[in-house]
Amino acid sequence: MDVFSSDTGHEQVVFCQDKPSGLKAIIAIYSTALGPALGGTRFHPYATEGEAVHDVLELSRAMAYKNALAGLDLGGGKAVIWGDPVRDKTEPLLRAYGRFVASLGGRYYTACDVGTYVQDMDIVARECRYVTGRSEAHGGAGDSSVLTAWGVFQGMRAAAEHVWGTPSLAGRRVGVAGLGKVGKHLIGHLVEDGAEVAGTDVAEPALAWVRERYPQVDLVADEDALIRSDIDVYAPCALGGALDDETVPVLRARIVAGAANNQLAHPGIEKLLEERGILYAPDYVVNAGGVIQVADEIEGFDFARAKLRATTIYDTTRRILELAASDGIPPALAADRLAERRMAEVGRLRMIRL
Ligand SMILES: NC(=O)c1ccc[n+]([C@@H]2O[C@H](COP(=O)([O-])OP(=O)(O)OC[C@H]3O[C@@H](n4cnc5c(N)ncnc54)[C@H](O)[C@@H]3O)[C@@H](O)[C@H]2O)c1
Repeated sequence: MDVFSSDTGHEQVVFCQDKPSGLKAIIAIYSTALGPALGGTRFHPYATEGEAVHDVLELSRAMAYKNALAGLDLGGGKAVIWGDPVRDKTEPLLRAYGRFVASLGGRYYTACDVGTYVQDMDIVARECRYVTGRSEAHGGAGDSSVLTAWGVFQGMRAAAEHVWGTPSLAGRRVGVAGLGKVGKHLIGHLVEDGAEVAGTDVAEPALAWVRERYPQVDLVADEDALIRSDIDVYAPCALGGALDDETVPVLRARIVAGAANNQLAHPGIEKLLEERGILYAPDYVVNAGGVIQVADEIEGFDFARAKLRATTIYDTTRRILELAASDGIPPALAADRLAERRMAEVGRLRMIRL
């Protein structure tokens, strides 16, 4: 994907290099219509520079939509560091990166993503004010999976109400694929609500944790077995692309609501879901609890305030599902339309000169 010929219209893409530390980073700002762009830093050993550019352009655009629907006064951006996080991550590299983020003067706030952790943000923050997702010891919001899971649970409740007339998941069978940081917290909310939970993971330690903590959870062999089983709700909480041409035709759930980013493998899957009568709660709407948690840190972190805001994911999901039903469009499209509307309508207000 080329920056200028892409029709996504990014505002700014910055290439950052510091040869002595080995830093190679790209920061992409999709939109600052609603405020400074917020999005995490992915540390990944991309095969080519082109792949890194493609990823950062896609991810930064998605953040603008996510932040808009989360009701935040923040635009969308993202950064990638091109390298192997295990081999290449050092204090000088992270601090060099922090200086480049600082050079944008607050147009971009960074946070954690795949390959970066709260401790890394603590280091970046030594060079730069525009950092969220730091550790609690450094005044940060800590592990964002807590409110991500809470938000997914709220989105799932809204979808349940839309389909069954009650938000309660009591007595419903929910299949959670991926029992990592988010999946584990989600199981807790589901069990507390009286749901029957099935789960799967490829990592033995994750399975062992669930076996020990929630022995009532039915652990199945793999994702394929889970989606073919008699579940009412499917919650993809592992990697992207969970909904594709193979999985959707055999999926037995009535609702999909999960934490994973980019669940739809390609455009058109949302229609396939609709044809099968499966209600899809858009991923970036229901998984916004994490960004809500780290965004709160900008004002000085207050967990109760952040949790209240993440609880509104219930109302946002409801609004999207209602709009989708009234306009006869898939929920994924309804979500995009609402996000674009907010960026245009609220972003425009800056034209009123103060
Ligand atoms: N953590 C957050 O705050 C947050 C916020 C928004 C979105 N997300 C997304 O939610 C998803 C889960 O995030 P996380 O923080 O829990 O990650 P994680 O790495 O802690 O957990 C992911 C789990 O999925 C498992 N897994 C991988 N492939 C699998 C497969 N094929 N079948 C079953 N299990 C598999 C892994 O073993 C791991 O236990 C990711 O897609 C992430 O991008 C996370």
